[in-house]
Amino acid sequence: MSFFRGRRLRRTEAMRSLVRETELRPQDLIHPFFVLEDDDTQIRKPIASMPGQSQLGLEALVEDVRQARAHGLSNIMLFGIPRHKDERGSQAYASDGIVQQAVTRIKEAVPDMMVITDVCLCEYTSHGHCGLIADGGVQNDPTLELLAQTALSHVRAGADMVAPSDMMDGRVQAIRRALDREGFVDLPVMSYAVKYASAFYGPFRDAAQSAPSFGDRKTYQMDPANALEGLREAEADVQEGADILMVKPALPYLDVLRRIRDRHDLALAAYHVSGEYALIKAAGEKGWVDERQVALESLTSIKRAGASCILTYFARDAVQWLQEY
Ligand code: PBG
Repeated sequence: MSFFRGRRLRRTEAMRSLVRETELRPQDLIHPFFVLEDDDTQIRKPIASMPGQSQLGLEALVEDVRQARAHGLSNIMLFGIPRHKDERGSQAYASDGIVQQAVTRIKEAVPDMMVITDVCLCEYTSHGHCGLIADGGVQNDPTLELLAQTALSHVRAGADMVAPSDMMDGRVQAIRRALDREGFVDLPVMSYAVKYASAFYGPFRDAAQSAPSFGDRKTYQMDPANALEGLREAEADVQEGADILMVKPALPYLDVLRRIRDRHDLALAAYHVSGEYALIKAAGEKGWVDERQVALESLTSIKRAGASCILTYFARDAVQWLQEY
């Protein structure tokens, strides 16, 4: 008999563990939270298309973050939903904006939670685009200064890392320069380097109330058909000074993630986005798949493909599931 007997090492859990190549750890996971600017700081508004997730008032958020930390979650990403939106997204970079307030409160109340902030204008602009509008289109270079201001305001409020998600060209450089100029040389930038114009963001846009009021994001987010372009985007962000590169969404783009892993030596993040979460939740609720198994298999696969860390709405549950195994 001279064939490969792969089954020899699969006979017991101890044997399988011994040769397991990838391990998903609680500290790999980053949970996104939505903070809602509202007089009622205890408010919790469930997001219909994302079962288990809510828009949270400031104090409700602090409570959930405290609880999640106690259950073993160590990293969060913050998105803000401001009371007022305008053409220039001014609440994105206001020193007393909702995200800025939330960062400060969380770092006071739960100092050992790592707080990463999403840097973008779309939740703050009346038109819902990620940059300034002129002549009917999104203007790249005039937007850069506002993104840099937004990042700076988050860092001044106490953020541990900033994550630009707008897909304007040159924004990593603009943010890096602004942070360095103000003395924040040690503050890392996690760039949404390879972000596709994806239908999987649908539930997020309900959650963040950030759907564009006209047109779409295809003039700045990438065409799902392109992988080589993703490599160029990654390379550009490395040159501009990104510390962590992100690929988003995750499961449909694992080939891109792997190609970047093979080419660059930076830490990589993958964003398992709202639509990916919603699909698993919906099928799980119907009893068509086992939610926990499918979620953990998905996250393990993202890690196997090359991610060092994963943004996922399953993070809060997954850190507990992982401890139960
Ligand atoms: C903001 C932003 C989006 C997501 C993260 N940051 C939405 C978008 O680009 O339309 C999507 C996250 C998700 O779907 O979970 N630019």
